[in-house]
Amino acid sequence: MRRRDRACRRAAVFAGARLCLTPAIRNAIVFSAFLLAGLPSAGAADTPKGNISRGRRAFFATCTNCHASTDSNRATGPSLHGILGRNAGTRAGYKYSEAMKDSGLVWTEALLDKYLAKPGAVFPGTPMTTGIFHAPMRDDIIAYLKTFGAKE
Ligand code: HEC
Repeated sequence: MRRRDRACRRAAVFAGARLCLTPAIRNAIVFSAFLLAGLPSAGAADTPKGNISRGRRAFFATCTNCHASTDSNRATGPSLHGILGRNAGTRAGYKYSEAMKDSGLVWTEALLDKYLAKPGAVFPGTPMTTGIFHAPMRDDIIAYLKTFGAKE
């Protein structure tokens, strides 16, 4: 028996535990418990389609490098404030690609879903290349985008 195992077993006897967990497994358990603890509050924010809390997390992980939720544009991308119901490519102070600027399209949930899945398929030549493959994640992100002062 290796030294660490022995020490671990002794600790397990002290704690009255049956299993002797390696530090990696223990961390995984603590981490899962941490994730689960967040679920009840996430559930409270459910909308018919998409979950705002999950969308917020996904937005901060994948969009905030280029987009702000507040009223200011980033150097890399236009602000998404009030995006639902807005004409595509019309945010003042941002230089859009020709494809988006002249499209005349209005941002609806359906258009956002298509665009987020594959930006270049909706506006060929758009510099935004990040696509979200996972449909439920797009629903979550759109649910969160709707909280940015949407017109609807
Ligand atoms: C690498 C930078 C980058 C990332 C990451 C990115 N975008 Fe974009 N996004 C852009 C750029 C640049 C544009 C302007 C596109 C154009 O001019 O054709 C844009 C445009 C948009 C528009 C249209 C805005 C308008 O005013 O009409 C939406 C909506 C959008 N992005 C949503 C998102 C969401 C949601 C995410 C995260 C899932 C995301 N983007 C991630 C760079 C990015």
